[in-house]
Amino acid sequence: MIQAGGNMIVDIGGGTSEIAVISLGGVVVARSLRIAGDEMNEDIIRFVRDEFNMLIGERTAENIKIAIGSATPLKATMEMPIRGRDLVTGVPKEIIINDENVREALSRSIRIIVNTIRTIVEETPPELLSDIMQKGIILAGGGSLIRNLDVFIADETEIPVCTIEDPLTAVVRGTGIVLENIEDLREVLVEMEDDRPLL
Ligand SMILES: Nc1ncnc2c1ncn2[C@@H]1O[C@H](COP(=O)(O)OP(=O)(O)O)[C@@H](O)[C@H]1O
Ligand SMILES: [Mg+2]
Repeated sequence: MIQAGGNMIVDIGGGTSEIAVISLGGVVVARSLRIAGDEMNEDIIRFVRDEFNMLIGERTAENIKIAIGSATPLKATMEMPIRGRDLVTGVPKEIIINDENVREALSRSIRIIVNTIRTIVEETPPELLSDIMQKGIILAGGGSLIRNLDVFIADETEIPVCTIEDPLTAVVRGTGIVLENIEDLREVLVEMEDDRPLL
């Protein structure tokens, strides 16, 4: 179940994105970015403010991101009505936002995440990289559910990407796997405890 060699994990959560290359010996290279799901919500709030002169809350922004957020153009346009407050008159109003708007809003954050993945790839020892090219980058975390984010990362890095099943609960399930294999993993766990904080 647990494979030797290199694995690259990109975990896009709420507050942070964690990008790491791990092997059975532990963490080889890693970065933590403060750009993840929360920042994407902020991106949408800023975009709606600047483009539509409208103020929306964090909750509305998150709903938009989940409903129509994407990293590359979709087969069919998606749009949704959103309510907020007109910045000039202060009066409630409704506008229609579409997938292209949201893509533009999210593009800067997604670009930063992709550039960081590329930096990590550059820092990865070649013998692990060939392994990662074969197995693909593993995408996890709720933020990885943005439509076509896997396709975009694969295009930009020229490395295949696989999104894990049910990325929102991956950490919980991963901990379960570790506990089931605690004897096999003892060496790794001890080393991580001694040398560096857990990811
Ligand atoms: N379908 C979705 N599309 C885009 N983002 C999503 C989706 N579902 C959840 N998220 C985002 O994922 C983030 C939470 O991911 P999660 O892995 O639970 O974070 P953490 O591990 O940091 O608690 C939130 O920012 C949430 O808005
Ligand atoms: Mg998570």
